[in-house]
Amino acid sequence: EKGGWSSFMAKEVSEEPDAVANTIRGRVHDGQVVIPELDGLDEIFTGIRRIIVIACGTAAYAGQTGAYAIEQWTRVPVSVELAHEFRYRDPVLGDDTLVVSISQSGETMDTLMAVKYAHERGAKTLSICNTQGATIPRESDAVIYTHAGPEVAVASTKAFVAQITALYLLALHVARVRGSLPAAEAADHVRELEAVPGKISRVLETEQAHIEQFSRWMADTQSVLFLGRHVGYPIALEGALKLKEISYIHAEGFAAGELKHGPIALIEPGQPVFVIVPSPRESAELHKKVVSNIQEIRARGARVIVVAEEGDAAVLPFADEVLHIPLAGPFFEPLLAVVPLHIFAMGLATAKGLDVDQPRNLAKSVTVE
Ligand code: F6R
Repeated sequence: EKGGWSSFMAKEVSEEPDAVANTIRGRVHDGQVVIPELDGLDEIFTGIRRIIVIACGTAAYAGQTGAYAIEQWTRVPVSVELAHEFRYRDPVLGDDTLVVSISQSGETMDTLMAVKYAHERGAKTLSICNTQGATIPRESDAVIYTHAGPEVAVASTKAFVAQITALYLLALHVARVRGSLPAAEAADHVRELEAVPGKISRVLETEQAHIEQFSRWMADTQSVLFLGRHVGYPIALEGALKLKEISYIHAEGFAAGELKHGPIALIEPGQPVFVIVPSPRESAELHKKVVSNIQEIRARGARVIVVAEEGDAAVLPFADEVLHIPLAGPFFEPLLAVVPLHIFAMGLATAKGLDVDQPRNLAKSVTVE
């Protein structure tokens, strides 16, 4: 049921704070992450030497976002792969490899086949899934459920933030078991994670009307670019995917550092570019680089829409639109920065008169390879 909402997608975006909060619930004890479903697996977590995250589409972008924190906190090398590419390159796998799959539906055939393949080759498999009892968790050695609630709109939104949350919980659980992170530092991350739902609510309250308004003037736009760096990079990819998917506009996400290696040639007067700006407090060096990217594209006439931390004055002179997100610790910004992009995709599709819940050519669960 849509409740009073205009679409399931609108309802599900409004549920992003709950999706995060419900995924955390019952998994934090005295400032430490203990995931009950992973009880008895300590030996696996201490024995692994490598983590490979596999998923498709939005779930893969959640994986790419979570990978930074997993590697940082556990000190286990992490790579992220599209599930449908994974099997076809004869990957080196063994019992020191943990393959983490991510799937909202738990039925995506590409991801399921990759999990089976990893299992047959002796890797340990853990799935992150939003659907109780689905096939992928049944085929895995362990599962962490995201508690986003049923997602009906074809475009994934609340499941995405829940998936990143589950990856952070997994990272903190494994880090505790491996002793790779001082307890005080882990507790800081837990506090940051627990503060995310309230901050997402703030973004929804303060930015929704503003984004809907400028997405209306952009209804005739032919192409939109998204730039980000570090954890902002997969968020740029997610912003572009959502826009293609529901508003049928050409959109591409780039790593901001890649701009000068080619994509800057696309910039012409009036080209809309979203830029996810890293926090000036948490990553001063990256912030400076991204601000200089903004100056480069602005000088070539781009219409720059920045997603920036509240109080970041450095971006103001170069931005046509500023979407603010509250201050958050390292790794937690993506959970906030993605929210305006979800609202924007929905706003633009609505402005074009499209059905945001049922985009053409797509199905909610892709059960063929
Ligand atoms: C994008 C989207 C898809 C899914 C992908 C994986 O909005 O919904 O890209 O994320 O098909 O689906 P699951 O997570 O069910 O495996």
